[in-house]
Amino acid sequence: MADKGELVLVTGGTGFIGVYCIFQCLAAGYRVRTTIRSLKRENDVKKMLEEGEATNIDRLSFAEADLSKDDGWKEAIEGCTYVLHVASPFPPAPPKHEDDLIIPAREGTLRVLRLARDAGVKRVVVTSSFAAIGYGHTKKIEVYDEKTWTNPDGPGPSAYIKSKAIAERAAWDFIEKEGGALELSTVLPVGVFGPVLGPDFSISIQIVQRLLNGSFPGAPNLSFGVVDVRDVADLHLRAMTDPKAKGERFLAVSPPAMTILEMSLALRERLGKAAKKAPTRILPNIVLRLIAVFDKAVSLVLPELGEIKVMSNDKATGVLGWQPRSNVDAIMATAESLIKYDLV
Ligand SMILES: *[C@@H]1O[C@H](CO)[C@@H](O)[C@H](O)[C@H]1NC(C)=O
Ligand SMILES: *[C@@H]1O[C@H](CO)[C@@H](O)[C@H](O)[C@H]1NC(C)=O
Repeated sequence: MADKGELVLVTGGTGFIGVYCIFQCLAAGYRVRTTIRSLKRENDVKKMLEEGEATNIDRLSFAEADLSKDDGWKEAIEGCTYVLHVASPFPPAPPKHEDDLIIPAREGTLRVLRLARDAGVKRVVVTSSFAAIGYGHTKKIEVYDEKTWTNPDGPGPSAYIKSKAIAERAAWDFIEKEGGALELSTVLPVGVFGPVLGPDFSISIQIVQRLLNGSFPGAPNLSFGVVDVRDVADLHLRAMTDPKAKGERFLAVSPPAMTILEMSLALRERLGKAAKKAPTRILPNIVLRLIAVFDKAVSLVLPELGEIKVMSNDKATGVLGWQPRSNVDAIMATAESLIKYDLV
């Protein structure tokens, strides 16, 4: 058990990863404060924690703070030993100007680091993303790992991908030049699956939802890395306290990457009738290209069609002893929870 006096700030408490970080910090005995954009959402967070049967909810407090504004951040960080900076803007559709995303992501991260340094926080863990590793490359990358950096000026990266790469780079530059005694580590998840705790969730979860609810006429010819949200939170806690994590980035993935067709077939095999609408064939690339003409969100994935990326989690498993669930188990946990909450 952690020292009961230690306070952890988790930013972005309403998000999928944020809630599970709160959950695991409470279970480990920390006091937790979380920032949410509006205190009106306090009960949503509590409800999700109760759904997950969290313990020690009485040791959780809330602070109002928005990534695009200074208000509230200083007070939120004051007195914390650790900060898990999970919050990041994630738009449902591409923004009009990429700076609408890049600036709040970068400035929001730098604000947290600056205030954490000034408040004497020991370590900040920034939730980055595979988006800061896997894009904009002109040469073929054999294995994607922590040594790889997205090239925001290369071909392909969307505004979201750029925002994650630029924000993480800015964080490391800050630590090097003006971080003082503050320590940093970063966690970079791929597509995050695992059990949902209510109707509030990420884009990767929507893929499972679409496979189950029959809205995919075929499986888009895409593949991506999979990881369970519980393992992502676990990696945050390891990155927060393990001395060996200081100054390091950790890719959070349970390899190998899966195609959407593989996910669909796994759902059919394990869930039987509940997955009877899941497609058994690949949607031809040309059909997806047509859909993308009308659907901006789909257009974002076109550069990725048919590509299979090889990813490694050797660093997190080897250095921090991290042991993630299998990719199929992560997908099944999502499917079962969607069924439980009647969301398919
Ligand atoms: C299936 O889920 C998707 C994504 O979450 C949603 O947009 C769509 O309306 C749903 N379709 C049906 C038929 O329920
Ligand atoms: C999937 O995409 C790859 C790369 O573009 C292509 O070679 C392959 O034929 C596609 N598969 C199908 C079934 O369309």
